[in-house]
Amino acid sequence: MPTSTPTKWWSKDTVAVITGANQGIGYEIARQLAQNGLTVVATARSEERGKAAVEALRKELGGEAQELVAFHLLDVTSDESVAALAQWLRQTYRGVDILVNNAGIARAETEEKIFDTNYYGVKRVTKAILPLLRPSPAGARVINLTSDLGILKSLSDKYCVEWKDRDQITEDQIDHFIQQYLGESKEGTSKSEEWEDVYKVYFLTKVALNAYTSVLAREVGPAKEKVYVNCFNPGLTRTNMNDYLSTLQGNTFQINTLQEAAMTGIWLALHPVGGPHGKYLEQKNGSIAEW
Ligand SMILES: NC(=O)c1ccc[n+]([C@@H]2O[C@H](COP(=O)([O-])OP(=O)(O)OC[C@H]3O[C@@H](n4cnc5c(N)ncnc54)[C@H](OP(=O)(O)O)[C@@H]3O)[C@@H](O)[C@H]2O)c1
Repeated sequence: MPTSTPTKWWSKDTVAVITGANQGIGYEIARQLAQNGLTVVATARSEERGKAAVEALRKELGGEAQELVAFHLLDVTSDESVAALAQWLRQTYRGVDILVNNAGIARAETEEKIFDTNYYGVKRVTKAILPLLRPSPAGARVINLTSDLGILKSLSDKYCVEWKDRDQITEDQIDHFIQQYLGESKEGTSKSEEWEDVYKVYFLTKVALNAYTSVLAREVGPAKEKVYVNCFNPGLTRTNMNDYLSTLQGNTFQINTLQEAAMTGIWLALHPVGGPHGKYLEQKNGSIAEW
């Protein structure tokens, strides 16, 4: 974990929006940010699950911190839902300081749905909230939850050699890669046999997300709009997304608690001015890693 003690620059007027905050790592990030005294907008795609989670969170926090948590509906795969959230944020808070793109799925009825949530969902939400990000003295933050399984260097050269150069990659190239992959997958001609396992598409969505983090970081740097953009890997953690790792065999894997999984995200949210930008951070120790 980065060791510098955060200089407290935030207050209860600092607004953090978290996607998929009704359970798992998103819930834990919401809990810790409210505990630190920020206003937290915990969003969820289900009104019932979201409101129940916010109620539980308020109970857990108690005291003044419970007043800091608000709920809003958000399905990251829906343009209407994203637009409604952005409008509500503008009316209610007039701006946002921290966006945590946490919502994600590993399996779905179609491969398109996984891309639509983990990659296009992040883009949809980020593009809608970017105009609301406030150039506070400490800078606004966009924090994307990714996986070490999606690091760009793990892509084989035969599949996508141009991706190796993160400084050159464009959003069009990422979108093209996804459409190419989905086309080949439908035809059964996919060249990506290295991804032939149950989480194959999930990994590819995180590759795309890492590349998008890099593209976005070039577009909106702290030197321009005062926005810090990074992604981090929370590490292997028992959550609903992976059936709480109930099928995991052997004890060779390091498994994080929710608190450990959230750690680097919290650090990225609260670091003082001048923190990392356009980086991939590893779990727990928060070291900046090669991607
Ligand atoms: N757990 C791990 O080992 C691990 C490792 C590396 C990275 N990650 C990443 O960490 C993030 C959080 O995952 P988690 O492990 O905490 O899983 P989780 O407990 O299943 O939480 C995922 C959250 O995303 C929400 N979500 C799914 N689709 C959505 C949509 N269309 N719109 C809005 N919200 C949606 C879920 O809502 P519902 O409750 O309605 O389903 C849930 O709140 C993900 O991005 C994941 O890829 C996790």
